[in-house]
Amino acid sequence: MNKLTVKDIDLKNKKVIMRADFNVPLDDRLNITDDRRIREALPTIKYILDQKAKKVILMSHLGRPEGQVIDSMRLTPVAKKLQELLGEKVLRLDDCIGDAVKKAIETSAERVILLENLRFYKAETKNDHEFAKKLASLADIYINDAFGTAHRAHASTEGITKYLLSVAGFLLEKEIAYLGKAVDNPVKPFVVILGGAKVSDKILLIENLISKADAIIIGGGMAYTFLKAKGRNIGKSICENDKLELARDLLKKAEASGVQIALTTDFVVVESFDKPQARKIVADIPEGWEGVDIGPQTRKEFKKILSTAKTVVWNGPMGVFEIDAFAEGTREIAQYLAGLKGVTSIIGGGDSAAAVSKFGLEKGMTHISTGGGASLEFLEGKELPGIVALTNKERVGVR
Ligand code: 3PG
Repeated sequence: MNKLTVKDIDLKNKKVIMRADFNVPLDDRLNITDDRRIREALPTIKYILDQKAKKVILMSHLGRPEGQVIDSMRLTPVAKKLQELLGEKVLRLDDCIGDAVKKAIETSAERVILLENLRFYKAETKNDHEFAKKLASLADIYINDAFGTAHRAHASTEGITKYLLSVAGFLLEKEIAYLGKAVDNPVKPFVVILGGAKVSDKILLIENLISKADAIIIGGGMAYTFLKAKGRNIGKSICENDKLELARDLLKKAEASGVQIALTTDFVVVESFDKPQARKIVADIPEGWEGVDIGPQTRKEFKKILSTAKTVVWNGPMGVFEIDAFAEGTREIAQYLAGLKGVTSIIGGGDSAAAVSKFGLEKGMTHISTGGGASLEFLEGKELPGIVALTNKERVGVR
């Protein structure tokens, strides 16, 4: 990576402001239901403290409050969890800019400070430069460790880099290393597993990986558009009718590049989502029925392809895994992947990461991205503004 990282700079006695992605899921009672994004930020926070920085000022968004102060989107649960995981007192502030914030940072006994939800200000998502300047004025150095938000050009990810030396944290560096290798230089055979509801979400991803992958496995909701494009019956399964032509084109392109495309060949189907117990397994979907998971034959075929792989990237579940009766296909594929030896398995964030964690298979995977949209854009081959904006090594003579 040609960007400065936290290891390249001297942090002693410095006030460090770090953008993390603490956008974690909360239940109705504001309990964090998955704290992985907080845990993944700990190595950088601990390193900054070990380097004897004066303060670590952490900032994040939570949800999309769109410029309103919304009590249920305060970072209070994050502060509590962070304190517990870090084993050090965290001072939570009620705001993220202004004199009171500055004063609290100067006078606090705590070394770790968490600012309030950045998106309580519209200026954050607008990448307002005055707002970015105010954030920058709180510290001497900026660290970005928020891979999950690196695809957003916001004040705390992009604007702020205009005012401070800006370096990558360990999580950002790790995500770039794993995802970057998979996209640019995968150990072959390289197999991509795609799923999720919509083809339209994954078009650019398929286009970018078609020339690099040896095989692309397509399951989940998006498979039905491809199957219909090939003339198969899909009953009332989810389908993007305006993408049929595109699906045909992608299949042709894959054939021309010698890339195997494996589609679902049998299905778990239901007449109604409310009657999961009445599900059945079919090779041809009857009228009035819809596919909710890949069938046992498909699981076998997908596993056979995976058994040859050295690198696997997985983005999108194989079925409606949130409902236990429709989760078997996703579970079996995840279990198989987690058990493969000598394979680099990379799980794109969002739903696929949630599935792996639901099945307790995190330890079996090489890397689970903390980014949903960010990992998708990275795998599409796009440059992420939060990464581009960081200080280049050459600029300060680091090689
Ligand atoms: C995410 O959860 O994908 C990131 O935190 C980004 O959130 P956003 O889509 O609201 O910008």
